[in-house]
Formats: sequence, C-alpha cells, structure tokens
Amino acid sequence: MIINSPNEMKEKAHQIIQKKSKILLNGQLGAGKTQFVKGVANFLKIDESKIQSPTYSYMHEYEETLLHIDMYRLETPEDMIQKGILEKIEEYKWICIEWPKFQEYYQDNEFLSIDIRKLENEKRELIY
Ligand SMILES: Nc1ncnc2c1ncn2[C@@H]1O[C@H](COP(=O)(O)OP(=O)(O)OP(=O)(O)O)[C@@H](O)[C@H]1O
Ligand SMILES: [Mg+2]
Repeated sequence: MIINSPNEMKEKAHQIIQKKSKILLNGQLGAGKTQFVKGVANFLKIDESKIQSPTYSYMHEYEETLLHIDMYRLETPEDMIQKGILEKIEEYKWICIEWPKFQEYYQDNEFLSIDIRKLENEKRELIY
C-alpha cells in the first residue's frame, strides 16, 4: 500500500486502528512511525500535537487512553520489565510501539505489525 503524504499516513492510521488497537511500527529513522501515531491519537480524540517520539523516555501515556512506546534504546527484556513497560502493555487497550523488541514477552496480546518503508520524497510503503 502506497502512502503519498503525511496527512494520508494519519488517515490510514485512522482506518487501521479501528480494526486493531495494538500496533507494532517498524521502519528506519524518519519513516513516519510517529506520524502514524498522530493519526491514532486523532481517532481517539487526543490532541495530536502532544504526540512526540518518546525516544528519550521510552513511553508516554496520553490521557490514560493511548500508550505510546519507543523501544529503540531498550537493551534487554529485563530493562523493559524493570522500567514497568511490560506491565503497561498488559494494561492498555490502545498501544503503539515504535522499534518493537522482545515480542516473545507480549505476544499474548494481539498486535498488528506494520513496516513503513521510505520511498522518494513524501512517498511511503506500508506493509502489514
Ligand atoms: N507519507 C509520509 N508519511 C509519514 N511521514 C511523512 C510522509 N512524508 C513525509 N513525512 C515526514 O517524515 C517525517 C517522519 O517523522 P516521524 O517522526 O514520524 O518518523 P519516525 O519513523 O517516528 O522516526 P524515529 O525512528 O526517529 O522515531 C515527518 O517529518 C513527516 O512530516
Ligand atoms: Mg518516532
């Protein structure tokens, strides 16, 4: 599936999140993972300007509704557990995880895995 603009990415996220409430987002730096989460926020009536990559904090909880995680800097599953991330994953209905890792720990939850590939300019390919 080809996405042609940042806005289209949000629209697509809007559609997908209505079918699956837990999403794994794979893709290189700047692919558009956080942009996708903005679309999810939109659907949940959360102000999308609040959505930023939680790279330096591992996770954000938005209005007790959406759990947004970035595992880029997580090194071990013990880290994930010790920081309380796994516990939150078990708690929330709406979850987006950028740079997902250690999936064997939360595979009981039903996640849809999406790959975002950067093509030229504002074109992206979504694979899921
Ligand atoms: N079709 C598109 N879909 C999503 N983002 C796009 C698109 N075209 C251009 N962009 C731009 O690409 C950037 C994507 O940034 P974003 O923060 O979402 O990336 P990311 O995958 O979360 O990166 P990181 O791994 O650093 O967190 C934004 O500036 C966005 O405006
Ligand atoms: Mg991001």
